[in-house]
Amino acid sequence: MQIPSYVKNQKLIDWVKVIAELTKPDNVHWCDGTQEEYDKLCDEMVKAGTFIKLNPEKKPGSFLAFSDPSDVARVEDRTYINSRRKEDAGPTNNWVEPSEMKETLNKLFDGCMKGRTLYVIPFSMGPLGSPIAHIGVELTDSAYVVVNMKIMTRMGKQVYDVLGSDGTFVKALHSVGAPLQPGQKDVSWPCNRETKYICHFPEENTIISYGSGYGGNALLGKKCFALRIASTMGRDQGWLAEHMLILGVESPEGERTYVSAAFPSACGKTNFAMLIPPKSMKGWKVSTVGDDIAWLKADENGKLRAINPEAGYFGVAPGTNYDTNQNAMESLQKNSIFTNVALTPDGDVWWEGLTKEVPDGLTDWTGKPYDKNSGKPAAHPNARFTAPAGQCPSIDPKWEDPAGVPISAIIFGGRRATTVPLVYQAFNWNFGVYMAATMGSETTAAAFGQQGVVRRDPFAMLPFMGYHAGDYFNHWLNFGRKLPNPPRIFGVNWFRKDENGKFLWPGFGDNMRVLKWIVDRVHGRAYGVESPIGWIPKYEDLDMTDFDFDRERFNKLMSIDREMWKQEIASHEELFMKLYDRLPKEFTWMRELITSSLWRSPAHFGLAPER
Ligand code: OXD
Ligand code: MN
Repeated sequence: MQIPSYVKNQKLIDWVKVIAELTKPDNVHWCDGTQEEYDKLCDEMVKAGTFIKLNPEKKPGSFLAFSDPSDVARVEDRTYINSRRKEDAGPTNNWVEPSEMKETLNKLFDGCMKGRTLYVIPFSMGPLGSPIAHIGVELTDSAYVVVNMKIMTRMGKQVYDVLGSDGTFVKALHSVGAPLQPGQKDVSWPCNRETKYICHFPEENTIISYGSGYGGNALLGKKCFALRIASTMGRDQGWLAEHMLILGVESPEGERTYVSAAFPSACGKTNFAMLIPPKSMKGWKVSTVGDDIAWLKADENGKLRAINPEAGYFGVAPGTNYDTNQNAMESLQKNSIFTNVALTPDGDVWWEGLTKEVPDGLTDWTGKPYDKNSGKPAAHPNARFTAPAGQCPSIDPKWEDPAGVPISAIIFGGRRATTVPLVYQAFNWNFGVYMAATMGSETTAAAFGQQGVVRRDPFAMLPFMGYHAGDYFNHWLNFGRKLPNPPRIFGVNWFRKDENGKFLWPGFGDNMRVLKWIVDRVHGRAYGVESPIGWIPKYEDLDMTDFDFDRERFNKLMSIDREMWKQEIASHEELFMKLYDRLPKEFTWMRELITSSLWRSPAHFGLAPER
């Protein structure tokens, strides 16, 4: 094995040797992250049938891949936290004892890269050399993973300078689990249809993923490292790794306030991160730091600062268009990779919601001519674009600042048709933690089968916590106690419906009206009235300029119904019972406090009298 002279880290070299001996690839390729390397791999994938080169006049430098129909999403039921003790993984994670899991994986990895190349991908999560960033190395037998990692992370030779001869790194081993016999022809999307494992060994900062080539199962910098492993690093080292977008709000006076926001998957995080304010809110601007993950650390003055550990967007394509997210549309016009969207006859891409009319002559995500009358979508509901963050027109000027951006507010939101008002501000950090821990979201048909069931998704991190959820809540409480002036915490719900099942709030750009109230609250410029669950705005506290939205509708959207909240609070019990052995004692008291304020006189439940 030829090792490039610039690789000086003996631990890395030894690990690559051990893995190469076990997996038996035909070649080992040490990625340098150059454009030439990227272009060459893309060309090879076009020849192999994995990639379709898109029309350079429509989407320059871009490619489309169709996955195997069995490999289209993250596999939560095959995802494990293999901590030494089962109690540390907690009741919300799958767990197998680490040596037992390694025995299983060793058998699977023995010879699993035969006939393939083992790629060594050095990457940094976060700006190179940032005190908030961390380094990883992914070993994979998938060229698709290499090119996606080049967009999604800071990947290449320069990482070795930061790593040096004795730097530490997260080990991320990945195989599609499809070795080739001599002479065997490859398929366009190799994967293992029967066996998939996505395993995390938090005490060893190691990830081992087998059998899938798709998204978060295979691009190990994202959910596996930046959330599951990083959340345990954060617990041990005193910082936070969160499923949060980061955005900047610029006022007409040029004051910029940074906010991070957590929403469960499929609640429009990318849209919110790239929001374009309505024309009537002249002078207000939103800039994008990140759309999915935030790492937050306190600086030496105790100010909370955040970086986006990623360098690209791995966004859901269906539903994205110039009305819903113009900035995302602009970001993906070139140098992008599309997975499981449909192909147009002129070599462009299409997905449900891109245009009203379905074009003729589409090839659907299974690679077959699309029948418009089939009742099936042409793009898979979880079809994705991988686009470089730097191409986003709303990218924040500080998105690569190694010091991160100062966070003044944290927002938590779910998808709730009833009960939860449009916006409210937690009374303090601890109430905010309680609110985030008990947040729920209604399942969407595409993702979870049954529609409309409230699934508790604490901190939007249920599938991404690398350790016991109760410990996670305690970590948040402790963390807040150490911040001299912690960010203010808000809850939002864009998805409340009226009695006819119609959304009460238009969402998208008009969410700026809510964001403005949040920013004004942070700076002490906006009123809030007390409610049992926190401070809420009155009609006149939101910017309603040129906005056809009457007071009655607003009151419906903001109403806090006593009976529904009694049920809501009672339903927190289920989660609490599951986590009871490590549940923060604070939660019991906060629950009592909220319940007791629900029993005040009814006047407190509507909005306070007009000022
Ligand atoms: C994502 C997710 O892909 O949350 O970002 O599932
Ligand atoms: Mn996500």
